[in-house]
Amino acid sequence: MIKVGLVGARAESFVSAFSARDDAKITAVCDLDEEIVGNLGDRLSLPKEARFRIYEDMLDRADIDAVLIATPMQCHVPQAIKALQTGRHVMSEVTAAVTMDELWWLIEAVEKSGKIYMYSENYCYTPEMQIVKEMARAGMFGKIYYAEGEYTHDCTDLRNWHGQVGWRSYWQMGTRGAFYPTHSLGPVMQCLDDDERITEIACFSSGNHNPYGLRNDDVNQVMCRLKSGGLVKIRVDTISPRPHALTYYQIQGTKGCFEAPRTGGDHVVAVDTEENPEGHTTWRSLNDFSYMLPERFKSGAGKGAGHGGGDYYIVEDFVTAIKNNEMPYLNVYRAAEWTAVALLSQLSVTNNGRTMEMPNFRPGMSWEEKRIKL
Ligand SMILES: NC(=O)c1ccc[n+]([C@@H]2O[C@H](COP(=O)([O-])OP(=O)(O)OC[C@H]3O[C@@H](n4cnc5c(N)ncnc54)[C@H](O)[C@@H]3O)[C@@H](O)[C@H]2O)c1
Repeated sequence: MIKVGLVGARAESFVSAFSARDDAKITAVCDLDEEIVGNLGDRLSLPKEARFRIYEDMLDRADIDAVLIATPMQCHVPQAIKALQTGRHVMSEVTAAVTMDELWWLIEAVEKSGKIYMYSENYCYTPEMQIVKEMARAGMFGKIYYAEGEYTHDCTDLRNWHGQVGWRSYWQMGTRGAFYPTHSLGPVMQCLDDDERITEIACFSSGNHNPYGLRNDDVNQVMCRLKSGGLVKIRVDTISPRPHALTYYQIQGTKGCFEAPRTGGDHVVAVDTEENPEGHTTWRSLNDFSYMLPERFKSGAGKGAGHGGGDYYIVEDFVTAIKNNEMPYLNVYRAAEWTAVALLSQLSVTNNGRTMEMPNFRPGMSWEEKRIKL
């Protein structure tokens, strides 16, 4: 039985996933806010001694093998490192870190601990992107050389938290660059070959046209160059007044393409098949390819869990990685690379869109390859 401690209110969205399992359970909860701890503790019928306001107290006193970190972004690395140093596995909310140096400290702590670190990029797990990933991995789009992701989420009303200035005022809207990129990147990056990676990025931003007086530009547009030469373009926009659209994606390969709906409608694909070599010329509903959905999604086990069931399957993968002692796909190296897109975009945009080289975060790289180059 894997015993898990939750930290941060948002971790509640994973409660139903843990409750449905007999190989893992939540044995402690932590949040600075006493009311949140109380409500969560009551929901899980946890005794008083398993409820904490102070994270370090939970690490010291709770009976836990793993922590699920869902606190504000700037807490992720300090809390992850402390957990790893006390022998706990970690699943961390997005983004992984708020500075490039933190990414190195995190990687070193994971490697030193030998524990599982999993990046909670739950947008990878929507049923639609799971079908697209399987189609991509089966070669149905041919060689993929272009992808897009967009996260347009007007968060201006989330700047304050309980009447006080909240973390989003600093780490999403208080800094320049595409500071929340991984919901746009993860779902398309998982469609590429495992050894594909981002080698350089450049970010252009629109300036400030809205009336809030925020440091973040209204729109941030990042172009990522892939090792294979292909491109991934993302838009991160947490300010513009428009309806939310968090999951727009596009994939283009040599045999066809995929496009998510921007404002409603169907997910569509156009792909060549043996019966129809001209398939790339006509859109078809992604539903025609629902047979590609991985078997475990078809079981309906994740029904009702957040993000189209994604919050259930991400917990399943975390638990499986711990049980098998196997690095998950959403490992610390991918967490670092995708998070670094945010951090390098800040440098790029403040240098008028200059191209920034991505350090090679994969294991076993030389010091020179790992360095940030300006
Ligand atoms: N994957 C997703 O779909 C998704 C969605 C929303 C938020 N997030 C991520 O989840 C994290 C939390 O976001 P949120 O919207 O819930 O933020 P929030 O500000 O609403 O909640 C943060 C919670 O953490 C608690 N907290 C803060 N510092 C703490 C500390 N040191 N120890 C213990 N508790 C502490 C606060 O009391 C609060 O309850 C962020 O990293 C965000 O990027 C991810």
